[in-house]
Amino acid sequence: MLKTSLVLFIVLFASQSQSAKIINPKFWLTTCPLSGCTLTFNACLGCYGERNCKSCITSIKPECATCADDIFAEDGLETINENKYLLCDANDSFQVTVCHFHCRGRYYQTGKCTRLLNFPICECLSTTTSTIQTIISNSTSNILTTEYPGLNFDGNLNMNIPILNGYQRVFALPNGDFIRATPKFSIEVWDAQNGFIRQSLVSNYYKPIVFGLLSNGDLVAGYSFNRTLVVWDLAQNNEKIKRIIQTDEFFWCLTVMANDDLAIGQQSNNYDIVIRDSMGGQVKKRLVGHTKIVYQMLILPNGNLVSCSLDKKVIVWDIGSGAIVRSLENFSPVYSIAVLSDGNLVSSLNDGSVNIWNLKTWRLEKNFKMHSSGICWNSCLLVLANGDLLSGSYDGTVKVWDPYSQAIKFSSDSHKSTVYQLVVTSLGNIVSSSATNLLIWG
Ligand SMILES: *[C@@H]1O[C@H](CO)[C@@H](O)[C@H](O)[C@H]1NC(C)=O
Ligand SMILES: *[C@@H]1O[C@H](CO)[C@@H](O)[C@H](O)[C@H]1NC(C)=O
Ligand SMILES: *[C@@H]1O[C@H](CO)[C@@H](O)[C@H](O)[C@H]1NC(C)=O
Repeated sequence: MLKTSLVLFIVLFASQSQSAKIINPKFWLTTCPLSGCTLTFNACLGCYGERNCKSCITSIKPECATCADDIFAEDGLETINENKYLLCDANDSFQVTVCHFHCRGRYYQTGKCTRLLNFPICECLSTTTSTIQTIISNSTSNILTTEYPGLNFDGNLNMNIPILNGYQRVFALPNGDFIRATPKFSIEVWDAQNGFIRQSLVSNYYKPIVFGLLSNGDLVAGYSFNRTLVVWDLAQNNEKIKRIIQTDEFFWCLTVMANDDLAIGQQSNNYDIVIRDSMGGQVKKRLVGHTKIVYQMLILPNGNLVSCSLDKKVIVWDIGSGAIVRSLENFSPVYSIAVLSDGNLVSSLNDGSVNIWNLKTWRLEKNFKMHSSGICWNSCLLVLANGDLLSGSYDGTVKVWDPYSQAIKFSSDSHKSTVYQLVVTSLGNIVSSSATNLLIWG
């Protein structure tokens, strides 16, 4: 009781001081320089969504919490023509940056200080114009690129770990660990350096199958049996479950996009790719075009999505409109895809052959056989730093090869059976999985 009223008191007190500061609509002009936040912003230029932008700013400098709140305070906005605007001065570089953050918080690409009816307002834009935008495209493309810059593979086997309950999906965490699904209610968290299970994430949801990471580090896990997405905050000791999103989808694959939206590939209902908000779970778009299961989705350096499917198609989607930019017909089902550093797309087919597509001319540049059976369908194609590809296959091998000369530089049958998935840990190790073993490569 005492605790409750204390909390109530703090909440009341906080909300009062909140409304007190609204007197000055540009309160951030005071709070940001006061707490020395003007420099911390550069690291956060690529943030998306109010919550992300705030937490990025405060994670760098906790003293900036008030400044961050003020930038996004609704009450600080000026109403002009029934629309609300942040006021900003185009001649002040700090205000220009604040305008950018204000717009990023609203899921725009950037903002520009301009004039409306002689008011100096911040206009949110979704097209590339300002110089800040250049920095952003650069920093976001680092996040978005599907290849792993600097990914090396030396062929050394660090660990061979027997597993008991068959092949289950594996997913890399930011701290170098990886997680592995189970066919029950839990998710195993593995130490990738020492090869043991650190802990289990247990819930009332059954058969975790897809995973993604939000920009704040939260883990999204999709449980196929319950058609439910659970957002886990792994930094918490207890109360790790942050929120639960009920869906209609029977998940097959998941890709988290730059603005933290979730792109979901399904294995039933229909085969639309469903784009959901990762906060409230609302369906924002359906990408309609595939007629069979989607095996993998990647984000292209320009922000568009590319997907591959059992229906033999590789589809490039305009993620802004949800429209098909191009549908590429392959000779047979496409299990995995990768984007080469020259921008060409590699699609691997279920017969063990590989197509190389030019995404500018949409032409098929090459087709050749690389494995005696298909490259597997749980993202089994990775681009190495030197441009080579690493593949895992149903023929039981893991190979490294040059996509242009087709020279095979490494081949291992250490798995002795079907390879089901390849994963890169954030420490640069590669985990490959069969139904009986996890191999951790250097
Ligand atoms: C910004 O600078 C330009 C050129 O120096 C000037 O014409 C303009 O009035 C200034 N704007 C504001 C809001 O001070
Ligand atoms: C992007 O970043 C790279 C490396 O940090 C840099 O060399 C390049 O000039 C940047 N490009 C732009 C357009 O800012
Ligand atoms: C999820 O599905 C499993 C299996 O049907 C069931 O036992 C469990 O109660 C469900 N969980 C919730 C929270 O409904």
